Amino acid sequence: MRYYDDYVPHAGLRAPRADLDTDAARLVLDGDWRFRLSPVADAPVDFTAPDFDDIGWDTLAVPCHWPLRGHGKPWYTNVVYPFPVDPPHPPEENPTGDHRMAFDLPAEFADRDVVLRFDGVESCAKVWLNGVELGFFTGSRLPAEFDVRAALRPGRNVLAVRVHQWSAASYLEDQDQWWLPGIFRSVLLEVRAGLDDVFVHASYLDGRGTLRVVASAPAIVTVPELGIHDLATGSTVEVPVEPWSAERPRLYDATVSTPDETVRLRIGFRTVSIVDGVLLVNGAPLALRGVNRHEFHPDHGRAVPLETMLEDVLLMKRHNINAVRTSHYPPHPAFLDLCDELGLWVVDECDLETHGFYFAGWERNPSDVPEWRESYVDRMRRTVERDKNHPSIVLWSLGNESHTGANLAAMAEWTRDRDPSRPIHYEGDADCAYVDVYSRMYADHAETERIGQESGIPFLQCEYAHAMGNGPGGLVEYVALFDKYPRIAGGFVWEWIDHGLRHPKHEYAYGGDYGEPLHDGNFVIDGLLFPDRTPSPGLLDVRKVYEPIRISFADNRVTVTELRPVPELRFEWTAGAASGVLDLSTGSAALPDLPGFAAETWLTVRAVLAGDEPWAPAGHEVAWAQHKVADAPRPPAVVTDRPQRTDDGFSLGAGEFDRTGRLRAFGGLAVGPPRLTLWRAPTDNDNGPGAKLRDTWHALGLHRLTHRLDGVDAGDTLVVRERVAAAALARGVLVTYEWASAGEGLALTVSVEPDGEWPEPIAKLAVTLPLPANLDRVTWFGRGPGEAYPDTGAATRFGTFESTVDAMQTPYLRPQENGRRADVRWATLTDDTGRGLRLDGLFGLTVRRWTDADLAAATHRNELTPGDGLWLTVDAGQQGIGTGSCGPGALSEYMLTLRKTSFTVVFSPLS
Ligand code: GAL
Repeated sequence: MRYYDDYVPHAGLRAPRADLDTDAARLVLDGDWRFRLSPVADAPVDFTAPDFDDIGWDTLAVPCHWPLRGHGKPWYTNVVYPFPVDPPHPPEENPTGDHRMAFDLPAEFADRDVVLRFDGVESCAKVWLNGVELGFFTGSRLPAEFDVRAALRPGRNVLAVRVHQWSAASYLEDQDQWWLPGIFRSVLLEVRAGLDDVFVHASYLDGRGTLRVVASAPAIVTVPELGIHDLATGSTVEVPVEPWSAERPRLYDATVSTPDETVRLRIGFRTVSIVDGVLLVNGAPLALRGVNRHEFHPDHGRAVPLETMLEDVLLMKRHNINAVRTSHYPPHPAFLDLCDELGLWVVDECDLETHGFYFAGWERNPSDVPEWRESYVDRMRRTVERDKNHPSIVLWSLGNESHTGANLAAMAEWTRDRDPSRPIHYEGDADCAYVDVYSRMYADHAETERIGQESGIPFLQCEYAHAMGNGPGGLVEYVALFDKYPRIAGGFVWEWIDHGLRHPKHEYAYGGDYGEPLHDGNFVIDGLLFPDRTPSPGLLDVRKVYEPIRISFADNRVTVTELRPVPELRFEWTAGAASGVLDLSTGSAALPDLPGFAAETWLTVRAVLAGDEPWAPAGHEVAWAQHKVADAPRPPAVVTDRPQRTDDGFSLGAGEFDRTGRLRAFGGLAVGPPRLTLWRAPTDNDNGPGAKLRDTWHALGLHRLTHRLDGVDAGDTLVVRERVAAAALARGVLVTYEWASAGEGLALTVSVEPDGEWPEPIAKLAVTLPLPANLDRVTWFGRGPGEAYPDTGAATRFGTFESTVDAMQTPYLRPQENGRRADVRWATLTDDTGRGLRLDGLFGLTVRRWTDADLAAATHRNELTPGDGLWLTVDAGQQGIGTGSCGPGALSEYMLTLRKTSFTVVFSPLS
């Protein structure tokens, strides 16, 4: 039998048990190993003998994925299997990494029971110690332990491991991510001194905790802070405690000891329950404001360094995220320790996905094939046993996108029996036959609301708001539904981070960049963080909509509503140059006394941490809101000039126009004519199946509009009439550009009128004009500092902002529409001497060093190269962003269609 070609998940493994912090001796075997790659699985097994000469092999720093260390290549697919679907057989081309390492056995390991543990190996490994075959295992993101006492010897020992990229188990690991073989988590030896397993049962009710610790050997439990000493395992004690929650992650240090071994635990008391269709923790509704987290690092793949795990948790906490779904496998155990300590609700998901069977109509799907039963239950057993002591875990998840079947039901049954304290989640169980919560992904707003209104078991969206590229749009409305309906326990944004792998040519690679014959392109670039973990605008929006308090204004008062428990906060306000602190201890306060303001002014109230928290320093902003306190309508512009004919065109105030009435200079600067634009470089969400706007726009030819001059009139104003249309299309747009003198400047009124029916959404209604490249300092009053589209930009606030053209670009890995500033009242674009122009009106502002066509043509952001000038776009509207790359498109209120309309922008020279 070829072990990698069989349903049997492993041979020779010890029973799964909790991941424990023990004082038993450990020897971590990470470091430089010897490595050899073969193209097939069945190369001769010549390397297991201790004296085998591996001098010609490469050195490999374990843990790692070998394709990220120069051996073979990563491969990305979303749903499809990258090999023929013929379970349980893996393909013949099966990159196989032989690994060897030698270690000296410390004296304290001699003549003891010792286990050899692998924390994560993708996807199948066979193991020899000193030439003795120990067995094999699958389950890439699951631990595997062998008893090695009999194989160990004093002095030098040699460990040999053969790892196959593909195995029967690969059919169970079809998650949407890079396929990355290797020993990617630690390998270690640990002395076993009797206390193999511990299961903490720590529940909470009305101020009291009930503790029962069950262990694999008789032991005593001590929790000094609770006055618990020498409590026998198996017995129950009830004590007054503070409960554990994501907001207040109260942990009690404890030990469980036998004469030979002491295990340190951090106990959190909490009770998960479902009452009247509402998911509760400690009696209070659980409000999951979550994200899906894959393990990812741009250089290390899923071999995520510890400091990166901490960075993830800190970033989540600082962005008001309170929950994480470990999509789609148990994370490194240290990540869960951080969730316990810093406070995140966790849905711990088993390492299971068989999505690729979808294309076969789910025929032969492992979830319902008896031969796979043991593998399914084994995966769940290894998940639950390893992670059962984490208070942060409030739901077990059977896996992802594996359709339905008796094997999933068996996993649920085993889990319910082993740990009845946590409800079971699995999105694929549409009938909720074996789960405790109803879960969906990407249900649109209307359906989410309908489900919220219906009665039934608790509902959550295990995935929503697909954060691919520009977006996600519609977050505000989703979270409002979560807040409104008690049945809705919340949701998890898809997903935390872009899986862009660092690449010499493309900066960050996505599917296809390694020449994969079958791949899913940039669908793997769909996170709230860029690969280097800088937040995208989407994460900033998440932070706003997940605020734990709501600050609102009415009747000259400011009111704070607590949605979830918060640490002590201080409320700071600013309005123009005035500022102060509000006393909101009673939940409400009068607005501060404000001076008069000459310009539009917003009162900003910010709730900041009053003191340091383990996850952020004092002063960190938790929530904010704004209220307009002064308006300053612009005085109507005084008309001072009329257009004059010149030798080769017209002049009007600061503007010079050619014979066709098209602007060619303004204030002495080479400024080109504003031209109607209805297109944008499609976003991933425009491209997606939920929107299909890219195809619509291309069919309409919005990206190749032609402009025909219909007439120029120079009277009191200069009026240019055009018909704008695309080749082959019978419909068009009648556009009038009317230039009127307005004091120092020129008011441009753009009027559009559809010529024919235009039922489809357009990308934007805007004019774009070229400017000199050096006008790259931008100041504006409007929303900022970041980008905003009609249904994104919750994070932006009103104010005056300064930036540069370069800094205003959002560097989405696959270039697309980005960088628009919304609700702009005025903006200046100047060179470093202050020369340039000013715009007044009410508009969306975008400035780039390349055209929309350049942006759309680039496949990676480092392909964008500055042109000779700038492109300024002033829009009167943009199509919403939505989340159509996977999920619904923009809500109808954010759809932009072409109507008869006009908008005015005043251009003034600055010198
Ligand atoms: C879901 C799936 C995720 C991911 C997402 C799209 O269907 O569970 O793993 O593929 O779609 O990015």
